[in-house]
Amino acid sequence: MVRHIFTAALVAAFSTTVLAASGVKCGPGKLCPAETPCCSQYGDCGVGAFCLGGCDPLFSHQLDSCVPNPTCKSGDFKLKSLDDVQSIDKYLGDSSKVNWVSQGKPVVYNDAILLTMAEGTVGTLLASSHYVWYGKICAKMTTSQGKGVVTAFIMMSDVKDEIDFEFIGVDIENAQSNYYSQGVTVYTNGKNLTVGNTVEKVHEYCIDWQPDELKWFIDDKDMRTVKRSDTWNSTSKRFDYPQTPSRIMLSLWPAGLESNEKGTIDWAGGVIDWNSQYMQNGYYYAMVSEVTVECYDPPSGAKVNGKKTYKYSDKAGTNDTVEITDDEVILASFFATGENPKENPNASSASGSSKPTQSVDTVPGGLSGGGNRGENQSGVPSGAASATGTAAGSAAQPTNSGSFDQGGNNQGSGTSLEPGLGRVGGSALAVVVAVLGLLVL
Ligand SMILES: *[C@@H]1O[C@H](CO)[C@@H](O)[C@H](O)[C@H]1NC(C)=O
Ligand SMILES: *[C@@H]1O[C@H](CO)[C@@H](O)[C@H](O)[C@H]1NC(C)=O
Ligand SMILES: *[C@@H]1O[C@H](CO)[C@@H](O)[C@H](O)[C@H]1NC(C)=O
Ligand SMILES: *[C@@H]1O[C@H](CO)[C@@H](O)[C@H](O)[C@H]1NC(C)=O
Ligand SMILES: *[C@@H]1O[C@H](CO)[C@@H](O)[C@H](O)[C@H]1NC(C)=O
Repeated sequence: MVRHIFTAALVAAFSTTVLAASGVKCGPGKLCPAETPCCSQYGDCGVGAFCLGGCDPLFSHQLDSCVPNPTCKSGDFKLKSLDDVQSIDKYLGDSSKVNWVSQGKPVVYNDAILLTMAEGTVGTLLASSHYVWYGKICAKMTTSQGKGVVTAFIMMSDVKDEIDFEFIGVDIENAQSNYYSQGVTVYTNGKNLTVGNTVEKVHEYCIDWQPDELKWFIDDKDMRTVKRSDTWNSTSKRFDYPQTPSRIMLSLWPAGLESNEKGTIDWAGGVIDWNSQYMQNGYYYAMVSEVTVECYDPPSGAKVNGKKTYKYSDKAGTNDTVEITDDEVILASFFATGENPKENPNASSASGSSKPTQSVDTVPGGLSGGGNRGENQSGVPSGAASATGTAAGSAAQPTNSGSFDQGGNNQGSGTSLEPGLGRVGGSALAVVVAVLGLLVL
């Protein structure tokens, strides 16, 4: 029924709290300015990580402000450690080094990764560094439980085509399947799929995404099919069908934050209880043990001029404006952009000269993420690089099997206030640390 564009809900979560003084918004009719050319998934302009995964070419300064998207990589990704996961404030776009980029606090537990969400945070997001342009994507996972707590396994493109499995924490028997085209909310696209207990039992959820047909599977059972031919929109004269390269996203996020819209909170079953029996070690959690990806061939008619990246050639943002190229961009620093990938203030010889300082958003998701809600930016260490850096660390690995409740060593997401991490580390869906403040140029 009511549903919420994944990103819209996120934006709501952040807009009440933070948003940089420097924050410039972007969206339909409003492109980012030249200084902060990249429009993030959440509708904010910036540089650095803003120009990587999720950068929206339609609302960025130029089509090439966003870095081209790494092409699909087939594989069986076992999520047993954080070796293949890099925190978003460390990742500069080299997808040959890591397959996953995190925000928030992923925690290793029993040969799987927990997506955690502590009070004061906006949960955890794992996004693939590679994009998929049609393929079969499966995740073995369990969900979280409780009012307002949403677990998600979705595909999302930079122009906001979206294919979802979402799990509302008050309904642990069903998955909600949904799809969107360029972020347009259509209230009739959602459909409940019966699973059986999503919290206690690991199920395999698959999205089989082909140019003509989209299917949702649960434990190999065919649950739903959408045909492109049934999605024709006579107003916009195009198929409202997911058709652009998309990242795989796994997340746990707080739809039931009081600061969110009522519709979002209601959809998620109410306002989150931060003293819930469903929390362990101070956090809600969902678990992902494995993701498999089978890439399909590029669609017939695709413009193929290479094999490394997907690039948009036009602001229509439709399937026929995607090109496959060999243009690869890795940013030199968090001040670089797709237009200016070599920008690196550190490298330039500015020694001695006292130049003005710069404050610019470099990691999308709002200024302090949920981690610092209500607090000041002063809680965010200057130099974003350090702020979430340890989030992906191993501090919080419970070792006993059977229970997360290790007692004593209570370092779960956001429960500790480690220097340079604080509660910021626990935040995230969209997290954090936007300002690499006061860095001398
Ligand atoms: C799915 O089920 C939930 C309750 O379990 C209900 O509130 C919701 O309206 C259903 N959605 C659809 C699309 O049927
Ligand atoms: C058709 O597209 C328009 C413009 O994007 C959108 O506002 C409308 O809701 C769509 N109609 C349907 C039935 O999906
Ligand atoms: C794009 O979609 C149209 C249908 O809308 C289809 O006819 C065409 O072959 C597709 N092109 C590519 C490159 O996928
Ligand atoms: C610049 O150099 C300092 C010290 O070497 C380092 O801490 C910082 O992360 C660097 N900043 C960038 C943007 O590379
Ligand atoms: C936030 O920062 C401002 C200016 O530094 C200060 O006046 C205010 O008291 C701070 N608020 C909180 C909640 O710390």
